[in-house]
Amino acid sequence: MSQQDIKVPDLGGADEVEIIEIIASEGDSVEAEDPILTVESDKASVELPAPAAGKIVKITAKVGDKVKEGDVIGTLEVSGGGDSADDGDGSGDAKAEKDAKAENDDKTDSEAKASDDKPAPKKAKSSGGSRKETVKVPSLDGFDNIPVIEINVSEGDSVEQEDPLVTVESDKATMEIPSPFKGKIGKILVKEGDKLSEGSDLLEMTVVADGDDNGDDEDDGAEQDASAGKESGSGQSGSSSGKAQDSAPQSQPQPQGSTYEPPSPGTKVHAGPAVRKLARELGADLTRVKGSGPKGRIIKDDVHAYVKSQLQQAQQGPGVGTGSGIPGVKLPDFSQFGEVEREGMSRMMAATATNMQRSWLNVPHVTQFDEADITEMEAFRKAQKTAGEKKGVKMTPLPFLLKACAAALMELPQFNVSLDMERKEVIRKKYVHIGIAVDTPHGLMVPVIRNVDQKGLWELAAESAELAQKARDKQLKPAEMQGACFTITSLGGIGGTAFTPIVNTPEVAILGVSKAAMKPVWDGKAFEPRLMLPLSLSYDHRAVNGADAARFTNLLTQLLGDIRTLLL
Ligand code: COA
Repeated sequence: MSQQDIKVPDLGGADEVEIIEIIASEGDSVEAEDPILTVESDKASVELPAPAAGKIVKITAKVGDKVKEGDVIGTLEVSGGGDSADDGDGSGDAKAEKDAKAENDDKTDSEAKASDDKPAPKKAKSSGGSRKETVKVPSLDGFDNIPVIEINVSEGDSVEQEDPLVTVESDKATMEIPSPFKGKIGKILVKEGDKLSEGSDLLEMTVVADGDDNGDDEDDGAEQDASAGKESGSGQSGSSSGKAQDSAPQSQPQPQGSTYEPPSPGTKVHAGPAVRKLARELGADLTRVKGSGPKGRIIKDDVHAYVKSQLQQAQQGPGVGTGSGIPGVKLPDFSQFGEVEREGMSRMMAATATNMQRSWLNVPHVTQFDEADITEMEAFRKAQKTAGEKKGVKMTPLPFLLKACAAALMELPQFNVSLDMERKEVIRKKYVHIGIAVDTPHGLMVPVIRNVDQKGLWELAAESAELAQKARDKQLKPAEMQGACFTITSLGGIGGTAFTPIVNTPEVAILGVSKAAMKPVWDGKAFEPRLMLPLSLSYDHRAVNGADAARFTNLLTQLLGDIRTLLL
């Protein structure tokens, strides 16, 4: 056994490449040529292979590092006779160098080769200012039978010269075949999985002629020249004409963007250069994109789908664990601590979770606490017991709260609004519909009582009891849960002294009610036993300021403290 440095081999002329993925880990046993890491040159992503079989002792490079030929990226304990021990001259890397060189040939050479060896696009038919061409596979740096892993275009697509047409992947490199022309894609002659070699027919396209391209009138040879000079490029990499160089469609695997945001450490991203470029352009973090291609490879459709879902989430507000820009909570394997079982969330639970998180993340919450003296209100309420039995309706504190809140919403209309942050507008509501949070065996539901300001206490008692029962029986219609201006959540029948409810967006305030309790209250001369009702008003501080919140709870305590004022 001996140790040798793992060095970056000849990169086919590329000065510096960026490490985009570390494939092998310390302690891994590798065979000769097993991929150790992936680099992205200006032409392709290439896997750098192990120079010999052995065990990875350490990897000193990291994702994002820029490396060049000869740089040490790690140490390998070579298995076997140790004959490949590094002698310092890099000879142990010879094979890797050869492989990498073969796959990532010098750009200048490739361009020269493109001009020399490129199968000439076959002229099919001329039509006005455009013509049909069959695009063929260019030189693949000596490789053949490389499978197509992604078709980057569809029939009917308009492409610019050098736009990627298909992506092929050898066992070590991913390359894109660029369009030699600007034009419209016709019939695609290959499919994913097909193996391509230089000269294979790739697709048909209608080439859009430049304004000064009158190649239609010329013979094949002349047209070829025109095409070489204006569209397909001369490919004369040795030419001193910078213009020709600039416009040359290089029928070789194409350069990719130069900036690359390294994925989170330890996250492997399997994606070709075009996909990485697209992700960079769209600002998509590929480590978050699920690949649907072969072996989980990320394809362009995956990036588009990811970006679309992110946009949808952004429009709807952040979802649970995603879209908020806040990293999701990573779950440990709970079974290591004891027995567990998993159960799918009900739709209602999932919807409630999403709504709660959306509200929590979107709304700057503040909660104002107060207490209402409901001693008289309770005496009145209890006095209605017989009347209630006759009517078949139970009078609970809730109808009084509804009535008081309706009055407060009318007196302080800044609570009866929604915010349209996109249009920077406040939407004022001229109606008073109030939601009541109902605890049901299948989750929290919020039916809405309409026009609370126009209804009497018995009507509100009957309607709230009916809606609560419907909620428990899962009988609520969607319309019965929509349109609230404000919500009351009463835990008074259960207990507690205070809590901080979450605003039911797009409303801007919610009243939490806790259990009323007898308390000694100083009346200026003595302590009196009074029934005090704890109120917790959470509000959206963008819409409502603290002073208004204090006014709102003040008003509630006055109204509930003397229910005659509800009639005024
Ligand atoms: N203080 C003391 N007692 C109270 C009270 C309060 N704030 N509010 C209600 N009570 C009493 C009622 O008077 C009744 O007692 P009684 O039978 O002796 O007259 C008892 O508690 C039960 O009342 P309840 O059935 O809860 O009626 P309600 O009209 O007050 O409330 C709902 C109806 C639908 C709001 C209620 O049943 C409910 O579901 N609350 C939970 C809401 C929730 O889960 N919120 C949390 C959201 S995160």
